[in-house]
Amino acid sequence: MQGISLENVSVGFGGVKALSGATLGVEAGEQLAVIGASGAGKSTLFRALNRSVALGGGRVAVGGHDLYALPRRRLNELRRRIGTIYQAYNLVPQLPAGVNVSLGEVGGMGGLGTLRTFLAGPGAGLSKKVGAALEEVGLGGKAGVRTADLSGGQQQRVAVARLLVQRPDFILADEPFAAVDPVTTERVLQTLLHLNREGATLLVNLHDVEIARRFPRIVALREGSVAFDGPPERLTEDALAEIYAGDSSATADEEAFDLSELRRGLERSMRLTEGRDGVSSH
Ligand SMILES: Nc1ncnc2c1ncn2[C@@H]1O[C@H](COP(=O)(O)OP(=O)(O)OP(=O)(O)O)[C@@H](O)[C@H]1O
Ligand SMILES: [Mg+2]
Repeated sequence: MQGISLENVSVGFGGVKALSGATLGVEAGEQLAVIGASGAGKSTLFRALNRSVALGGGRVAVGGHDLYALPRRRLNELRRRIGTIYQAYNLVPQLPAGVNVSLGEVGGMGGLGTLRTFLAGPGAGLSKKVGAALEEVGLGGKAGVRTADLSGGQQQRVAVARLLVQRPDFILADEPFAAVDPVTTERVLQTLLHLNREGATLLVNLHDVEIARRFPRIVALREGSVAFDGPPERLTEDALAEIYAGDSSATADEEAFDLSELRRGLERSMRLTEGRDGVSSH
């Protein structure tokens, strides 16, 4: 099986460059921690890997497929092999937790199957899988609870349980430890590593550098491009300071932008005032 590659990928949102010439290759079955300051482009990188953002430039390949060149149907097939835990979990809050977990499987069944699961709850075989998955993440007995009534960390674990049912080839976990206590963090990490040992390529985006150091490879993003790529031994204090340093040039640019906007605004209102004065003096 083939892994993941990004070549010179850029993604912009209006004037903001979220990714800027990001290049990265990940072998199938690898474990990778992605770190970087808030706003560095980590979530955008993951979104580029399941084609949920438009590319400004570059190329993204997943499992040997040119992701952005795939026709819709093939894209959907590939997406079924990609399991994502979003920073905001991406669960349906009104549904019972168990139904959210079962969506890991019915995601591949098309509209009617999904609808049936919504209406009737998962079938017996699937129910067993769902129960085991919830058990594994420490939520045994919560299958029938409305997802919105679970705590943030519990909802995050529902998203992990959904991966256990989906068994994706590629896992993109965007801050899966953000809302959970240390014991749960360990449990979620072990679950993700377990899926990785069974063959899934695992990319985890996290803020906790100590947890990142437990991964054999760490990639750091800074201002939308890869600023570090190597084993934890090479992630020195100096490298970390560089990765998380505030960027003074960006700040200067923002100030210049704000000032010129302000100046334009002031000029506009002054012209209006002058015009009004002109009218009133006649
Ligand atoms: N949908 C969007 N619309 C406009 N700007 C966006 C959007 N998504 C991201 N951005 C901007 O792109 C940049 C990168 O955002 P991204 O979410 O990838 O950062 P991140 O590294 O995941 O940060 P965090 O650690 O805070 O989650 C930021 O400046 C952000 O404001
Ligand atoms: Mg993010």
